Amino acid sequence: MDTEQLAEPQADAGGDRSAYEGVLRYYELAKRAEWQVRDLPWDEAPPIPEYKGTAQKIARRNDMWRSVITQQLQADELAVEMATQLFAIAPDPEARLYYTTMVQDESRHTEAWLKLVAETGGVGERDPYLDDLAHMTLEADTLEEKVFQMQVFYERLIIPRFRMIARSSRGTVLEDLCNRLTVDDGIHHRSGVEYARILLANADEKTKKKLIEAANRLLPVFVQHALWRPKAREVVGRLMRETDIRLLREDIDNGVRLAQSFGLDVGEVELTF
Ligand SMILES: [Fe+2]
Ligand SMILES: [Fe+2]
Repeated sequence: MDTEQLAEPQADAGGDRSAYEGVLRYYELAKRAEWQVRDLPWDEAPPIPEYKGTAQKIARRNDMWRSVITQQLQADELAVEMATQLFAIAPDPEARLYYTTMVQDESRHTEAWLKLVAETGGVGERDPYLDDLAHMTLEADTLEEKVFQMQVFYERLIIPRFRMIARSSRGTVLEDLCNRLTVDDGIHHRSGVEYARILLANADEKTKKKLIEAANRLLPVFVQHALWRPKAREVVGRLMRETDIRLLREDIDNGVRLAQSFGLDVGEVELTF
């Protein structure tokens, strides 16, 4: 990141700050929801579901879970970078205070995934499209684009995935972690919606137009990311394709509805799949 991008923090913003009370409330909520990696049931529960059967079947299942964990580790590693950047460039003191909690959350999530992946045999294959998406957000020109992509869009769409993983891994460390992340990412998303609303209420037409243009550049990569499967989950991937496409449409529709609620002209968003 170019240091010229760093905003002058308004340490003493002064004036009427009542519009930012919502952002401060999310700071307080985030502090109350804070937990530690040592709170996970490391000694009481297996890291991932245990199976009976042939050695080959067990190995295949293990590879599948490793790849699930690898994808989440990758996502949270990138989230650390994005949250750090938001903290660095947000000019509003309330938002800066809130972002200190998000940086800590994303670091803690990464720490938990690193420990879990080590317990299941090490990292697997990386999703190249997820790296591309994160870089598009990190390189976006405006704070509005970054908050919209990271918090409004990505944070929202990860939540049903965590619920799905938790449902298929009952009684494991993985389930416990996914339940915690559902709460944390719910806060990340809602605080982002709150901040995006304030930013976009004050944004000029040029900034809003850029946000829509960025969404159009991002969506095709997002589609590739959503349909991508590592080798370890190729077969499941083929079986899941219809579900994937349905979820993908829901995710994009949701993003469009949220953009609309911010007064953005989403008629210009092109859906190409
Ligand atoms: Fe996270
Ligand atoms: Fe998050």
